Amino acid sequence: MLYGKKVDCFPVSSDDTVFIVHLRNNPVVAAGFFSDPPLYDFVQRQGFSSVEPESLYFTIRDKSNRQVGWISLTNVSYRHQKGEYGIALLPEFQGKGYAKEASELLIEYVFNNLPIRKIFLKAFTSNVSAIKLYEKLGFIQEGLLRDEFYKAGRFQDVVVMALFKTGTH
Ligand SMILES: CC(C)(COP(=O)(O)OP(=O)(O)OC[C@H]1O[C@@H](n2cnc3c(N)ncnc32)[C@H](O)[C@@H]1OP(=O)(O)O)[C@@H](O)C(=O)NCCC(=O)NCCS
Repeated sequence: MLYGKKVDCFPVSSDDTVFIVHLRNNPVVAAGFFSDPPLYDFVQRQGFSSVEPESLYFTIRDKSNRQVGWISLTNVSYRHQKGEYGIALLPEFQGKGYAKEASELLIEYVFNNLPIRKIFLKAFTSNVSAIKLYEKLGFIQEGLLRDEFYKAGRFQDVVVMALFKTGTH
């Protein structure tokens, strides 16, 4: 329902469970996540039932209708007019501009349709590909959380970044 030139984004369905579990258990993908494998299919299925109604979850598909990744806006607060963005692509579909286009589609949809003026994110400072993507999308660093998260056997720094709707900040 968000249509681009390289990818389209469709609301996540319980039929996507196998794909999401495969994606989130991929070690390359999981390295950038604030959770660790293994993720079990029954846990993911339970997760669908507790999705907050304000959250947006889309699977990203290429023009051959292959599932390539997912993108989300969670922790939405209409009081504070903000939400948290997340994205992940299977490694074989990275570096093709899919993440950038899907992100642009989501950001445009959110700012043009919802009472949200700020999109924020958190990422490990070591996640170079993600931070490059976020900078290209216009996200600005707001803070650095030192030794914030224990992952891969060590405490890691986390960067907080945000993007405001044009003219609202
Ligand atoms: C983060 C992620 C979605 C980025 O996907 P991607 O496929 O690299 O993104 P794109 O191909 O759309 O590239 C986006 C831009 O960043 C640039 N870029 C990507 N990786 C880069 C790198 N290592 N160095 C410099 N630039 C880079 C690309 O050149 C592109 O810019 P351009 O369109 O001007 O050429 C992907 O790496 C991923 O799924 N990682 C695992 C999950 C994850 O860590 N998610 C984020 C959690 S916070």
